[in-house]
Amino acid sequence: ARTPAGDVHRPQYHFTPARNWLNDPNGLVYYEGEYHLFYQYNPHGDRWGHMSWGHAVSRDLVHWQELPVAIPETDVMAFSGSAVIDWKNSSGLGKGGRPPLIAVYTGHDPRTGSQAQFLAYSNDKGRSWTRYGTGPVLDIDSTEFRDPKVFWHAPTKRWVMVVVMAAENRVALYTSPDLKSWMLASHFGPAGAQGKNWECPDLFELPVEGRPGETRWVLSVNLGDNAVGGGSGGQYFVGDFDGTRFTPDPSWGEAPAWMDYGADFYAAVSWNDLPKSDPRRIWIGWANDWRYAESIPTYPSRGAMSLPRTVALRKTAEGYRIAQAPVRELAGLRSNHRTTSNLRLGEQPVVLAPHGVEGGAVELDLDIDTGTADQLSFVLTDGQGYETLIGVNPTVNEVFIDRTRSGPHFHDGFPNRHVAPVDLRTGRLKLRIFVDQSIIELFVNDGTQTITDRFYRGGGPLSWSAVARNGTATIRTLDAWTLADAGAD
Ligand code: FRU
Repeated sequence: ARTPAGDVHRPQYHFTPARNWLNDPNGLVYYEGEYHLFYQYNPHGDRWGHMSWGHAVSRDLVHWQELPVAIPETDVMAFSGSAVIDWKNSSGLGKGGRPPLIAVYTGHDPRTGSQAQFLAYSNDKGRSWTRYGTGPVLDIDSTEFRDPKVFWHAPTKRWVMVVVMAAENRVALYTSPDLKSWMLASHFGPAGAQGKNWECPDLFELPVEGRPGETRWVLSVNLGDNAVGGGSGGQYFVGDFDGTRFTPDPSWGEAPAWMDYGADFYAAVSWNDLPKSDPRRIWIGWANDWRYAESIPTYPSRGAMSLPRTVALRKTAEGYRIAQAPVRELAGLRSNHRTTSNLRLGEQPVVLAPHGVEGGAVELDLDIDTGTADQLSFVLTDGQGYETLIGVNPTVNEVFIDRTRSGPHFHDGFPNRHVAPVDLRTGRLKLRIFVDQSIIELFVNDGTQTITDRFYRGGGPLSWSAVARNGTATIRTLDAWTLADAGAD
């Protein structure tokens, strides 16, 4: 469902609903050839409210079809949560011998503020949903208890729920044999970065790259404010999980590990039940920041998802760190491939259109030698002279996005610069840049760091140039593609 009217900010290969407000991804699950993407959605307006689960499906994680609202607001709003395939029908909610889809979500009562965990089930591939019972399946008499992520833990043969006690900056773990009765197993936190709340946790096991047989568990938690990009953002912990308790690795320090260094990557959670033949862990985040989320100048839809990204685990000098990459399926959108070698950058800006870098839907793959320059940057200029910079400062070991002059002012929390620390002492780095009209996703050195930022231009088409300051730098290779519009018309 595409929007006919031309919103210049509307992404072409990132998911946004046709209209209205969207926040967190919910209920990510794969079932019978379809990736389901549910999300926090207001069916009645383009600001937060009437929270319901919107719904879209895809066969390739790239082309999405928006479907009718799956779980509407009732006596409670349907806040964030997850979905699983109940393969063995442990809940007894399946029928006809096919496993049911079960959604576990937070019911938020707007009158009392109460937050408790509710169940809904579907026996028709997620098209229609029935609430289980009249009330919650897990209620601890709290107003800050939300965002259950449920998964099957094979070694202990039971369901595990990771959920936040938001204001306490704590995660709680529960277990269940049937998704209906839940028992408290343990708590984790406060730890790492803290703020007004913790939200949208996830917990999953990953192989450690290059170490056959070795795995660790990643506990990701989002932080409502005070994150590295200035507002809301995500952090993670790496350790072990025995079915009851998460224990950070002995080497895990006090310093927070950030999922992303930009402002616009929040509430990322991962898909459940990918086919056995697909060993990937894939997550998707909300490309927004609670500071200014309701003010972003897009219409008639407000809110977009990040690209779906694979998450891997590496052992680095700093300890265990995740590495992210956009899913490989996106390569299906590529056209107009151009390769340029040894492009010298100096004070005089180099126009990039002759090298195939054109328009607002672009993928770039770069191998850079920072040379003698103390800064090099890619500059996106709009038709009114507003500029967004994607750059590198070798002398201070930083990669950055600068959107202080991206477009007309709409919120004080927006015009800022976001920095990822990157060791640049060798003078070499690799960047992958995805630009989609109003979103930049930047992957540094095989995804060891990412910066995700939205930018809202004044108007007109984007043009690209590159420039170096106080010296020269060389783009050793530049691969550029135009990415096709993935919208279903
Ligand atoms: C995170 C969040 C969740 C909550 C949902 C409500 O962005 O605040 O904690 O479930 O949004 O829309």
